[in-house]
Parts: sequence; C-alpha cells; structure tokens
Amino acid sequence: MPLLIVGILLLAACDNNPPSSIAYDELPADGDASRGEMLFNQTASPPCMACHQENATASPALAGFGAVAETRVDGQSAREYAFYSIVEPARHIVEGYGNAMPATYDDMLSPQDIADLIAYVLSL
Ligand code: HEC
Repeated sequence: MPLLIVGILLLAACDNNPPSSIAYDELPADGDASRGEMLFNQTASPPCMACHQENATASPALAGFGAVAETRVDGQSAREYAFYSIVEPARHIVEGYGNAMPATYDDMLSPQDIADLIAYVLSL
C-alpha cells in the first residue's frame, strides 16, 4: 500500500481516539472515592451512570471492575487501565461492546476529578 494511504488511514484512526489532554503522570496520587461516586452518578457530563447501569446491555456493568481492571491490558496496572478507560476509551474496547463511550472527559474533568473517579470505579 502506498505510504500516503497508510498515513491517511492512520490519521483517520487517530481521529476516533484523540490522545488524552491529561497525562497519566499528572494524576494526583490520591483519589477520593466518595467524591468519585458523586461525579459518576451526577456531576460528570454526561454522568457515567447514564450508561453504566447494572442492567444496561450496551455498556459494561462495573460491578467487580476493581478485580478485572488489571487483567484487561497486558502491562497496565488497574489504575492505569482505569485512567485510559475514562480519558481515552477507544484505546481498549471491552470485548462485546462498541466504541460508544464519549472521549471528552479529559477536557471536561480535572486531574483530581479523574483520580476520584478512578478510586471509585476500582472500589466496585
Ligand atoms: C454513552 C455511554 C457511556 C458513558 C456516558 C460512559 N461510558 Fe464508560 N463505557 C461505555 C462503553 C460502551 C464501554 C465499553 C467500550 C469501551 O471499552 O470503550 C465503556 C467502558 C468503560 C470502562 C471499562 C470497563 C471494563 O470492564 O473494562 C470504564 C472503567 C468506564 N467505561 C468508566 C466510565 C466512567 C468513569 C464514565 C464517566 C466519567 C463513563 N464510563 C461514561 C459507555 C459509556
């Protein structure tokens, strides 16, 4: 395949998965799970809860997420995987689901918000 076409295909693929504007190193070391729960249920826009409900079929239920997170991507810790799931959701698509999660949370939320959300989802 000519290089130009390869380049165009790569660019198109990147558009669906813009790199996060928040880097993993920028995350505060501590997250507050109860504040994360509030973001999850109400304050994040759109609220995570709109999709991640217990009986939803189009989005994975997050019960037990704390245990599976570190098994999802080789070489990624649970916290790192949770981080990318939130700020760059298309980076790893959970088997059986589509690329339907908004890729805008890195712009809408602060690094502290993300750390709080991670603490919450890993407690599930
Ligand atoms: C519009 C629906 C929608 C919204 C809103 C949404 N998600 Fe998701 N989420 C999904 C879908 C669909 C997947 C599975 C596809 C994928 O991996 O991106 C997913 C995957 C995930 C995963 C990975 C789960 C696993 O088992 O590996 C996490 C963690 C997650 N979302 C957290 C969040 C958080 C936190 C928020 C709010 C800040 C949020 N999601 C908002 C639809 C949504």
